[in-house]
Formats: sequence, C-alpha cells, structure tokens
Amino acid sequence: MFPFDYFASRALPPAFKTELGNGTPILVRHVRPEDAPRLKEGFNRLSHLARRRHFPGEEPTELTDEQLKLLSQVDGRNYVIWGAQNPRKPDEPGIGIARYRRLDEEPDAADVAITVMDPYQGTGAGLVLHACLHFTAHHNGIRAFYYDVSGENERFIRHLKHLGAEHVGRVVGVTRLKLPVFARAASVPQYSASGFKLARTMRRLAAAPAIAA
Ligand SMILES: CC(C)(COP(=O)(O)OP(=O)(O)OC[C@H]1O[C@@H](n2cnc3c(N)ncnc32)[C@H](O)[C@@H]1OP(=O)(O)O)[C@@H](O)C(=O)NCCC(=O)NCCS
Repeated sequence: MFPFDYFASRALPPAFKTELGNGTPILVRHVRPEDAPRLKEGFNRLSHLARRRHFPGEEPTELTDEQLKLLSQVDGRNYVIWGAQNPRKPDEPGIGIARYRRLDEEPDAADVAITVMDPYQGTGAGLVLHACLHFTAHHNGIRAFYYDVSGENERFIRHLKHLGAEHVGRVVGVTRLKLPVFARAASVPQYSASGFKLARTMRRLAAAPAIAA
C-alpha cells in the first residue's frame, strides 16, 4: 500500500498536469460547453476505426448540433466529461475525452465512453482519462460503470476484463461490460499488467496538484 492510496478517494482537482508514458506533458481538465468547437474538430480528425469504436454499431461522419448540445448538461456530478490536451500543441483539438453519465434506471451506475485521438493511442492517455472517471464517479456515489465496446475491439475488452469487468450483454457488434468503480489505486485488481498500469496511473493522479485552466 502506498501512502497516497489513503487520500485517493477525494475528488480530483478540476484541472491538473501530468505526463504520458513517453514524457509528453498533458493538461487534464473538465470539459465545458464552450469546448464544443474543439470536440467537433477532434471528431472530424478521428479515423474511421476510432469513430466506429466510439459509436459502436453506427459510424456518424460528424458530431451533430444535438450531440454537442448535450455538453450543456455537464454538471460535474451526474454527467462528467474529462478532456486531455497537449499544452505544447495548442492548435490540436485535444488528446482525448472520457465521459460518464449516470443512469436514470440505476442511479448508482453510469455509462462510460473513452476516446483518444489516433496519434496518441497506446501512450497511456486512455488510462489517465479512465482513472479520472473512476475518481470522480466514486466521489459522486457511482459504484458501477457500463461500457459498450465494439465487439472487434478485443484488446480493450480484454483490458477491461483484466480490471474485473463482466459481460452483461451483447447486441449486434457491441459487447456490454460492467466494472466496479474504483475509489483509489488500492481497489484496482493488480494481478495483470492492465490492473497494475491503471493503479499506477491512479496513484500518480491522486498526487497531482491543481492548476488554473
Ligand atoms: C480504447 C482507447 C480509449 C484506449 O486509450 P489509449 O490511450 O489508446 O490506451 P492506453 O495506452 O491508455 O492503454 C489502455 C488500454 O487501451 C487499449 N489500447 C491501447 N492502444 C489501443 C489501440 N490503438 N486500439 C485499441 N485499444 C488500445 C489496451 O487494451 C490498453 O491496455 P493494455 O495495454 O493493458 O492492453 C483508445 O485506443 C481509443 O480511443 N480507441 C477508439 C475508441 C474506443 O475503442 N473506445 C473504447 C470504448 S469505451
């Protein structure tokens, strides 16, 4: 057990800096309604594969105004979106986003989606954003996450299963998984590399000081 584990169930600061595995600095913060143009641009730059995986079962060509209007419902509690950007590349729309939305029919659970821009995939950005969701959701009383993952995305499905996720459903091309929400690094099962990496990321984030952004 690491000392920071004991403090990790607190809410994260609304904005902080950390770095990816390759040393790239990243600024992580809550996404706000005024980020709509940035999100639209980011979506336009996503590969077909990432779009299909973000919206399994469909493949929209762009984010609609209707979808962007949902940003106005972000409330820091029931509907939360974390975003990461590279402060060295201010012209980029961002590195990735992750959101959870509390379910009306199961108020201690939420649906989750994470998307990382193609050039940053595999660098640990997904882990950072995923860790943010766990901290924030647990702080807000959410105890289970549901993920709808494209059935061919075997690697990410395996990753979630290594964290303890269970299959809870399948519709054409989409696998639905359920995972407990982790309050702190020590709650993550660490018998696999996936668990170890998420726990290490949560530990790092728990120690991140707030910044103004
Ligand atoms: C899945 C995704 C969010 C992971 O983020 P990432 O920054 O690429 O991944 P990380 O480097 O943080 O690694 C976390 C896990 O993501 C998965 N991953 C990493 N790179 C990936 C890639 N290029 N494609 C698919 N999954 C990938 C791996 O399972 C990895 O864990 P592992 O190394 O223990 O197997 C990202 O690849 C992505 O946006 N894919 C398209 C959209 C999507 O599939 N979203 C998931 C539905 S919720």
